[in-house]
Amino acid sequence: MQPKGLICAGGEATRLGELTRVANKHLLPVGSWPMIYYPLQLLQLAGVRDVLLVTGKGHAGQMIDLLGDGRLAPRGGGNPILELDLTYKVQTEPGGIAQVVGMARDFAGDAPLVVVLGDNIFELSQAEPIREWAEGPPGRARIFVKEVDDPENFGVVVWGEDGSVVDIVEKAGVVDTRYDAPPSAHAVVGLYCYPPDVFDVIDALEPSSRGELEITDVNRYYALEGRLDACEVEGWWEDAGKHWQHLADIGKRIEETGANRERRA
Ligand code: G1P
Repeated sequence: MQPKGLICAGGEATRLGELTRVANKHLLPVGSWPMIYYPLQLLQLAGVRDVLLVTGKGHAGQMIDLLGDGRLAPRGGGNPILELDLTYKVQTEPGGIAQVVGMARDFAGDAPLVVVLGDNIFELSQAEPIREWAEGPPGRARIFVKEVDDPENFGVVVWGEDGSVVDIVEKAGVVDTRYDAPPSAHAVVGLYCYPPDVFDVIDALEPSSRGELEITDVNRYYALEGRLDACEVEGWWEDAGKHWQHLADIGKRIEETGANRERRA
């Protein structure tokens, strides 16, 4: 069955300071596009057409003004930027990424689901590993990992001796206090592929120490079940929600290399 897509675009984005008092983080400029275009384009390139976008109360209006029904022609004409079928939902209380994924239950139905965080931008589209998962054995989840210099800011994987993922640790020492420091430098990036039973997994979750339903706990469930594959992200990957200075740097990177390219040049 054709996977459906989910974009998580809620949150208050306090890390971006003055920039996000009124504006939604995902609408800030990164290069020549608003940030949210990149994860939407990634889903489209992976062959996903039906996409649910979840955003916070107070921002849904701007988001709908910008994206409409998901068919987006560039100003001045030319090839469409996006040709998606977009549905919207509003998150009224922040409750974690897994809570947002839970909101996609009726939308997804029996279809598998590709989830992208609205602030994650990739040099390469990852269309191949997403299609490979969609066409592969049913019931498996897929996460994507990238080696980073600041693993304390992310969820990171713990590798077993056979190269499989044996555990996942969310912001070691802060959210997951089982570890004082991250047990690896392999961050779990904001792109996740789930089979339809993900909603039952979310139903059984308990809030973490920061009071949120953690996507890391969902991924750990699949790891412990032996139903998780971890793919290394080729090309650069950025979480654009970290700091305002970062927005301009990522814009420059996109100018240099492009984003969501099919392959490394
Ligand atoms: C979230 C996830 C984290 C992941 C990161 C990727 O963190 O909780 O596991 O590594 O996204 O961008 P956040 O940036 O929402 O704090």
